Amino acid sequence: MARLWAVVPAAGRGTRFGGELPKQYLPVEGAPLIAHTLAALFAHDAVEGAVVPVSENDADWPRWTELAGKPVLACVGGASRAASVLAGLHALPDDVRPDDFVLVHDAARPNLSLADLTQLLERGRNDPVGAILAAPVRDTLKRAGDDGGIDATEPRERLWRAFTPQLFRRLQLTRALESATTDGVEVTDEAMAMERQGLRPLLVEGSESNFKITTPADLARFAYELAQRHR
Ligand code: C5P
Repeated sequence: MARLWAVVPAAGRGTRFGGELPKQYLPVEGAPLIAHTLAALFAHDAVEGAVVPVSENDADWPRWTELAGKPVLACVGGASRAASVLAGLHALPDDVRPDDFVLVHDAARPNLSLADLTQLLERGRNDPVGAILAAPVRDTLKRAGDDGGIDATEPRERLWRAFTPQLFRRLQLTRALESATTDGVEVTDEAMAMERQGLRPLLVEGSESNFKITTPADLARFAYELAQRHR
């Protein structure tokens, strides 16, 4: 079985959330959010270890070298998400081969289920390009005007919301992110970088409970769901 590592970008300073402590380090049940995120990834036997890009001089990073018996390597991230992921890809152990698949997963997405991760790996590793977890858009979409009024209703057919993890081959993803950077295009996820190369990653439907922590209400929801799990 080919080696499988994860890159977990955590170099964002979480300005949208507000507060002093970046959201990935906010404590939930006595552990920083990112500990829960890494635990969710490490719950799958195939995941061997993780590289965590953190911001330079990050005093809040707990400096783990392993969790749950699996290695955790930190590296310095960049000014954009893509730059942080690229730094992580470069920091992977040398024996992760160019065509090995790598998982990229947001540090701020701690509620990933083992069922979704298993599904992503089963489907994605059988796809020539790779795959992402995502969910179809279920609400009606409105385009807003400058005044906050509705300009138009947008068709939602075939629209999906992209989640993470996203699963791609180490070298192909590195090339795709480098190309986006060279072209000055800010990609908001890894699949977008792959799409720019003319590649078509697979959409794997995942649970809505794999949400990204963006607001204090999201954090409260995660704390609640974790408490339910441990009852
Ligand atoms: O800001 P947002 O929630 O979209 O960030 C998604 C993930 O990317 C977070 O885990 C964040 O820490 C990470 N990130 C990063 N380097 C940046 C910006 C964001 O690692 N420069």
